[in-house]
Amino acid sequence: MRSVIFVCLGNICRSPIAEGYARKVLKENAIDIIVDSAGTGSWHVGEAPCENSIIVARNNGVDISSLRARQITKKDLDEFDLIVAFDENNYNDLKALCAKNLVKLGDYGYGGIDVPDPYFYDGFEGFEEVYKMIEDCVNNLFSVKSI
Ligand code: 4NP
Repeated sequence: MRSVIFVCLGNICRSPIAEGYARKVLKENAIDIIVDSAGTGSWHVGEAPCENSIIVARNNGVDISSLRARQITKKDLDEFDLIVAFDENNYNDLKALCAKNLVKLGDYGYGGIDVPDPYFYDGFEGFEEVYKMIEDCVNNLFSVKSI
C-alpha cells in the first residue's frame, strides 16, 4: 500500500486528525506512505480544521493547524490505494461514487463501530474520545505504535 486517504463529511473534524496523526506515526516509523484527507461534502472547503480538533491534536503532539479542507474527487478515488471512511454515511456516499478499496476506520479497532461525528457534540469530551479511536485504529491500520 502506497497511499491512503481519510474521508469524513466535512474534512474539518475527524479526517484532519487522522491525517495529522498518520503523518506523525509514519514518520516516526520511517514508513513511506502518502497520506491525505478530504470530505464528502463541500461546505467547509478551504477552511482550517475545527478548533477542538486542532486543540485535541495539539494536546497529543500533532499540529494540524495548517491543513485545509477539500472535497473528495473522482481522481482521488482512482488514485489512492485505500479509501478510509469514518461512518456508515461516508461509506455509503463513497460507495455511490464507485470507490474501490473502501474500508471504515473502525474495521481496524473498536469492534468495527463508526467513528462518530464530534461536530454536533457539546463540549470537548467527544473530540477526546474520537481522538483515541482514531489513534488506535490508525496504529492498527499501519501496524505501528506511536513512539
Ligand atoms: P467531520 O465533521 O465530518 O468530522 O469534518 C463535520 C463537520 C462539519 C459538518 C459536518 C461534519 N457540517 O455539516 O458542517
